[in-house]
Amino acid sequence: MNKTSLIDELKKECEVCQDCELGKTRTNIVFSSGDENTAKAILIGEAPGANEDLTGTPFVGKAGKFLDKLLEEVGISREKDLYIINTVKCRPPKNRVPAKAEKDACRNFLIRQIEIINPKLLIFCGNTALKSFVSNKGSFSSVRGNLLEVILNEKAYKGIAIYHPSYLMQYATKEQIEMTKDDLSQIKSIIEE
Ligand code: URA
Repeated sequence: MNKTSLIDELKKECEVCQDCELGKTRTNIVFSSGDENTAKAILIGEAPGANEDLTGTPFVGKAGKFLDKLLEEVGISREKDLYIINTVKCRPPKNRVPAKAEKDACRNFLIRQIEIINPKLLIFCGNTALKSFVSNKGSFSSVRGNLLEVILNEKAYKGIAIYHPSYLMQYATKEQIEMTKDDLSQIKSIIEE
């Protein structure tokens, strides 16, 4: 089966999923954005917010627009180069951080998506995504920008963590914005290798 058929099959499973409490309150599952056939990297965010829940597409609200601006500045195409998912596919009520049980319920879907896409790089966008895949590597700020090795189902992937756009919009220093642009430039070089 080709990538698109495998992804379509997985999406159908997700659409009827009730493996955790979030299934009861979602409007739509937020499965992914991007093209499974051209994507070079998978960007993993935290969780869908209100706009994502309504549209079924990740990163379409304020944080998404900020992310789009950064990507455009460094010349990464969101549509062609990135496949975007979150640690959970349904919106946590009041935008709270997803609980461990909710992330665990979604994990198998994420791993199957990653295996089908087989990206050159996993981008952990924020601490929730990083902690879901990489344990005990120190503080987020000391890990971001470093090239990591992530083993999933005995397969090794390259990984890198970047600041989450919601954090950057609200709290970041100019220096942290510049660091993020440097991290994105590094990502661009890796996916173009
Ligand atoms: N924040 C996330 O982490 N993911 C989204 O899809 C939107 C906002």
